Amino acid sequence: MTNVFAGKNIILGVTGSIAAFKVAGWVSTLAKEEANVSVIMTDSARRFVTPLTFEALSGNKTYCSMFGSSDRDSMAHISLGREADLLLIAPATANTIARLANGIADDLLTTTALVTRAGVFICPAMNSKMYSHPATVTNIRKLKKIGYHVLDPAHGMMACKEEGEGRLAEWDDVAEYLAKALTEQEFIGKKVLITAGPTREPLDPARFLSNRSSGKMGYAMARSAFRRGADVTLISGPTALSCPTGVNRIEVESAQDMFDAVLKRSGKTDIIVKTSAVADYRPAKRAEHKVKKEQIEPHLCLKQNPDILYELGKRKTEGQILIGFAAESQDLRAAGMRKLKKKNLDLIAVNDISGTNSGFESENNQVLLLFSDGSVDLPHTSKQHTADLIWDKIVLLS
Ligand SMILES: Cc1cc2nc3c(=O)[nH]c(=O)nc-3n(C[C@H](O)[C@H](O)[C@H](O)COP(=O)(O)O)c2cc1C
Repeated sequence: MTNVFAGKNIILGVTGSIAAFKVAGWVSTLAKEEANVSVIMTDSARRFVTPLTFEALSGNKTYCSMFGSSDRDSMAHISLGREADLLLIAPATANTIARLANGIADDLLTTTALVTRAGVFICPAMNSKMYSHPATVTNIRKLKKIGYHVLDPAHGMMACKEEGEGRLAEWDDVAEYLAKALTEQEFIGKKVLITAGPTREPLDPARFLSNRSSGKMGYAMARSAFRRGADVTLISGPTALSCPTGVNRIEVESAQDMFDAVLKRSGKTDIIVKTSAVADYRPAKRAEHKVKKEQIEPHLCLKQNPDILYELGKRKTEGQILIGFAAESQDLRAAGMRKLKKKNLDLIAVNDISGTNSGFESENNQVLLLFSDGSVDLPHTSKQHTADLIWDKIVLLS
């Protein structure tokens, strides 16, 4: 994926929570992504982790006091916030949340929060009783009203051996929200519907017909659309993938389930991207109980499934953009063009599945994009990068 963090000034505010050690890994990841990370620690935070840890990982000075010694440090409470592209406060204690909610500026971190006009992201981390206390609830509500982005903590076992809500959010989720904040919001207000993965066509309760689709391409398309500001619904066949951050996932099994789920929503959607590998046929009969080995008939009788893309093309509304994917092993251009026309598509991405390092199950893809009036050969690259490049083209259609 395009490295959105490269060259960005990210201020990380670390406060006095037991979860402070976890964000050392976050700093390391951001530094590897070539972000310029400056860490500000509260006095309490330094009881948990040393400033040296963050200095070594970020390659930058860690700021601990408003009243520094050098000329530049003496104005750090202004300059850090002024130059920031993002302020992330993680872990955020109940105490710092209360200070921020009330505009208190009694240390370098809270003063920086008042100075900066960059996006402020806050990741609360505390015991679940502290988190659900009315004072904290009210303070978080105030933070949201100010326009700060408060990311929900996770649920689970905490250091205090209590289970509940209050664990520091997972980095993968936080990273997606930060990436979104640093990405141009080209699809803000747009409803995007994406289908992904295979379908399963049951023979009996134990057996089904399916295909090799992993869902990775569709999930990459969903991730990229979320980052660009779209309201994304992902209708997914069975996959091993976890739901991309910020995406509304609807899980389905069979082609008919997918047809119903898509058609129910398609009318109110601005952009539909159909990456799923839907079974063309299903077994004519589904046995209620598992068929015994000796009762299995050597021939399968099949029935045709509905063609979702064809149906969407027929029902396409004014201004709606319809994008299809095709997996082909030969005559990519001719096969893609036929499908583009037959199904009334605006764009088709033809996957070359003839190689071993692209297409089904692979992390990479090699895609030919076909429009009614032209074509683009995308490079052999990761599915996530392919998704980004496809969305770059979809922007031009919308
Ligand atoms: C071992 C230990 C762990 C703590 N963990 C948390 C925590 O996870 N969340 C929290 O809000 N406070 C926690 N506290 C309390 C804060 O450190 C305390 O409220 C402090 O004043 C916070 O200061 P700060 O917000 O300026 O960093 C913890 C205290 C101790 C002694």
